[in-house]
Amino acid sequence: MTWHEYHEATRHSVEALKRSRHFLDSANMPEPFRHYEGTPLLDLPADPVLGEVPADGAAWLSQLLFHAAAVSASKVAPGSRDRYALRVNPSSGNLHPTEFHFRTRGLQDWPDGLYHYRPSSHMAEQRGRGDFGTGLAESSAPVVFVLTSIAWREAWKYRERAYRYCLHDIGHAWQSLAIAAGAMRCESFASGEFDDDSVAVTWRLHEDEWPMLVVELRGESILLGGQPEQETVCFGGAANSLSKETVKYRAISEIHEATKTRLARGGLRGKGEVALTAAGLSAAAFGGVARKRRSALDFRGGEERISQAQLLELLAEAVRPVAADFGGEQFVGLYLYVHRAEGLEAGVYRYRAERGELEQVASGDQRVAAAGLSLGQDLAGNACVAFSMLADLERATRRYGDRGYRYVFFEAGAIGQRLYLGAESRGLGATGIGAFYDERVQEYLGVEPAEGRVIYHFAVGYPVADPRVEA
Ligand SMILES: Cc1cc2nc3c(=O)[nH]c(=O)nc-3n(C[C@H](O)[C@H](O)[C@H](O)COP(=O)(O)O)c2cc1C
Repeated sequence: MTWHEYHEATRHSVEALKRSRHFLDSANMPEPFRHYEGTPLLDLPADPVLGEVPADGAAWLSQLLFHAAAVSASKVAPGSRDRYALRVNPSSGNLHPTEFHFRTRGLQDWPDGLYHYRPSSHMAEQRGRGDFGTGLAESSAPVVFVLTSIAWREAWKYRERAYRYCLHDIGHAWQSLAIAAGAMRCESFASGEFDDDSVAVTWRLHEDEWPMLVVELRGESILLGGQPEQETVCFGGAANSLSKETVKYRAISEIHEATKTRLARGGLRGKGEVALTAAGLSAAAFGGVARKRRSALDFRGGEERISQAQLLELLAEAVRPVAADFGGEQFVGLYLYVHRAEGLEAGVYRYRAERGELEQVASGDQRVAAAGLSLGQDLAGNACVAFSMLADLERATRRYGDRGYRYVFFEAGAIGQRLYLGAESRGLGATGIGAFYDERVQEYLGVEPAEGRVIYHFAVGYPVADPRVEA
């Protein structure tokens, strides 16, 4: 299966949704937390404050993970007493297919080794002690993350389309990590191009975890000076089973296979910037924003408007280049359904990133259209602005082969994460929207697929209070 076949096969349409009704088997719902059982557990200090000088490696890692990947609130499902954890990074359906693994080398008072982050208790599972490498040709970075996807977690609900959401989620998780690291005066660089199988072996990943992105962190706040371990010891640990039964989706296995790299080719390196420094936030203030970020359940559809200046700032931050081996070229463009923005007539606009300008392509009330195109989700109509992200998949896959399919979704997820944090830091709210009618969006915007395919929707506005969420 090629990227093109997968993408076509996983479009939403009214007919396809009617044809294939899917009933969720709640008894078989995958466990949201992966544990590697039997490994030594290393404590990360509780309630760290971002920006405080960390006392040692554990304190540094705690600050980073608490503001990038930790549990940050809980939610009670309507009509039940079941409580779900919510995390700093968002995830389609709150299913969290992404796992955070990391390797450390030379940190002060923290053993070199291979770790898996355990968000349920904010601890590090030590899967090995010593020097394990990264699977990249070479990396001198003291801290290296591998973000993996467990596709089944997402496929349980979204079936074949789930691979798209896994990729988006990686984009969100990556920027969650990169921006938190940036607030700690660290630089990050992501590699999407690596030999999948050898990274999986190097990191001793369970077979249901697929490596998607390798993120290197460097920076002055990382406390170095630890003594190298004399020997390498592997604990591994037994991966917990997530469901009674795992349903395999052929389309997902095939698109994953098609986008795999056997030999890293070396991409076009892109030097990215940390998006939120422009909003002028201190590290501590950013820490509060990251922990408070939530997806809006809906937006107040009254008269409140986003200011034009806020909107333009938000857009400029969201589309800044990413620091990645696939970051040298950008593939995602933004269309806006403007409902309520000061100084802007209601209508459809295209964001001209190179000039930082909005170009109007249609006028008139877009609320019904935006909600309708987003599978009838009211929040896209009640927001101040809804978005369609269109990607030049042809150009990306010409440049990177089928692997490029991953990169455009990572890029869209990264834009989404910056929109989430940018909105939150300005007293607004946001929601990622993975569900939309693909073809109708193309028709509505008058864009041929060869010029750009819709891959993600988004909404920004004034959120209604969500009674299900508990801090
Ligand atoms: C890729 C992606 C797609 C999403 N799609 C939708 C959607 O179609 N509709 C919706 O209401 N929320 C959507 N969400 C929001 C998630 O439901 C939300 O992130 C999750 O419930 C966790 O809540 P939190 O973001 O407050 O942590 C999406 C989020 C992501 C990252």
